[in-house]
Amino acid sequence: MRLERYVYLTLVGVSLFRSVLSQVNPGFPYGSEKVRGVNLGGWLVLEPWITPSIFDNTGNPDIVDEWTFGQYYDRATATSVLQNHWDTWITESDFADIAAAGLNHVRLPIGYWAFEVGPGEPYIQGQLPYLQNAVQWASQYGLKVIVDLHGAPGSQNGFDNSGQRLPYPTWQSNQTNIARTDAIIKQLASMFAGQDNVVPIIEPLNEPAGYDSGVLAPLTQYYYDSYGNVRYPYGTSAQSNTVVLLHDAFQSLSYWAGFQTPPNWQGVAMDTHIYQVFSDSDVAMSWQEHIDAACSTQSTLAGFDLWLMVGEWSPAATDCATYLNGRGIGSRYDGSYPGSTYVGSCTGITGSASTFSSSYKTFLRQFWEAQVISYETVDGWIMWTWKAENADEWSYQAGLQNGWIPSSPTDLEYPNICG
Ligand SMILES: *[C@@H]1O[C@H](CO)[C@@H](O)[C@H](O)[C@H]1NC(C)=O
Repeated sequence: MRLERYVYLTLVGVSLFRSVLSQVNPGFPYGSEKVRGVNLGGWLVLEPWITPSIFDNTGNPDIVDEWTFGQYYDRATATSVLQNHWDTWITESDFADIAAAGLNHVRLPIGYWAFEVGPGEPYIQGQLPYLQNAVQWASQYGLKVIVDLHGAPGSQNGFDNSGQRLPYPTWQSNQTNIARTDAIIKQLASMFAGQDNVVPIIEPLNEPAGYDSGVLAPLTQYYYDSYGNVRYPYGTSAQSNTVVLLHDAFQSLSYWAGFQTPPNWQGVAMDTHIYQVFSDSDVAMSWQEHIDAACSTQSTLAGFDLWLMVGEWSPAATDCATYLNGRGIGSRYDGSYPGSTYVGSCTGITGSASTFSSSYKTFLRQFWEAQVISYETVDGWIMWTWKAENADEWSYQAGLQNGWIPSSPTDLEYPNICG
């Protein structure tokens, strides 16, 4: 073989090798298989509506989130309540049940305070060993874990589920907050870089409030930094196989068109959340209108240029669940939320499934199926949430037990519900 030809073939070989190296190879075939999953809500980040008893038992109405739980409650009691909750709310048998229900992913919310607590921050730590256990159990049962940073320093949205209920988020307005969050994502990425078969995705920030002014610009920079932190966790030019999942910050998908797309960017996916319960007009819809709205998401989701999953959604059609809008705050549906108008009574549509009529359960199944069908027109779905103390309409587990969620997610009774 002539030397030139040898050199040429070697160069082709090197460039093929390099292009193979630059392709991410995730621990799940996103894009060719559908994500079917459930969130493990209210476990490592408390949410008043998921476990109202933890909040009611404090006897203190000012305890409305995990921050105030640490701030106002007796420290020793708070610590033991949390530890008991972490030990019992989700256990190995939940992972077994989730896998047996034909799901392939869990999305696991965690707060920054599991990693570090700053001066004056009242959070109680101890969540990390549970995250490690969860990953171990997931691997045992063949489930993939999306680790989701649900609360950042200063709060990225002011929701109680960010750890701190605030009138306005403060994460974005303080560079120290952002730098602390970057450091946590680096830590998470290196923690799981060798386990991308079980933790194929890290989501660097849940639901940043892009509708508040001053959030989108620092968020965009944070998403660039997160790309580096998640995709290059080794401190070298070697890419990981870990996918970065970006929440859309409540912007339309067209806002993000072209953002971090291949070939220059690899291993990026978009997360959008779809609820039909958080406005007066949403809760005023009829059951049929809820189903039609679910089906119509197919056109708004279509044609996006990254892997796209609906990382939170629910068959709930009202905001009736106790504390859903915050501890001590009522529901729009029954008019007890400030400024809302009565649509109907919450009796029989939240709480225990034993109070649900059979026509309501049929609706829940149809609404669930309409959403599953619609979200599978893109890359899949992760329902919110696996269990709730007293809001069965939100619970995957209760849906399985009471028949509005099929024991295999492809076993549809209404495959033509979207026409
Ligand atoms: C910025 O946030 C840090 C905590 O992340 C806090 O210690 C500091 O006081 C904040 N600075 C301002 C100006 O609010």
